Amino acid sequence: MNKTRLITMAMQARENAYAPYSGFKVGAALLTKAGTVYGGCNIENASYGLTVCAERTAVYKAVSEGERVFQAIAVIGGEQTYAYPCGACLQVLREFGNLLIITAISVDAYQEQMLYDMIPFGFSWEKNRR
Ligand code: THU
Repeated sequence: MNKTRLITMAMQARENAYAPYSGFKVGAALLTKAGTVYGGCNIENASYGLTVCAERTAVYKAVSEGERVFQAIAVIGGEQTYAYPCGACLQVLREFGNLLIITAISVDAYQEQMLYDMIPFGFSWEKNRR
């Protein structure tokens, strides 16, 4: 996996962010097991609660194209602060199993966590599924 490339693709996805209310643009790049990358950006709405995060945009794009198995997601928000995926995005990502989360502020400054370390006990109605 080329982390520089994935972070760069998250930066490119961020350019399409629609964030007129918060002004905070976020980009994500989701890497499938086969090597395809799906970008995503946050898309805000005048009815604020309808805003969707960059991570979920990427997941929904990928899943709607038939993808189910993912290796990693790179997320980039501001240049100063590491923008970790929110709880809603962690739960949505978790639906498709564990993966590497790369939270970046640049191609040189990033942190890495596994999804299951960030959300060890997500919701599932299936018995004993972690
Ligand atoms: N946002 C994301 O895109 N991803 C996150 O993980 C957290 C927050 C967006 C939503 C909103 O458009 C902006 O950041 C400020 O909350």
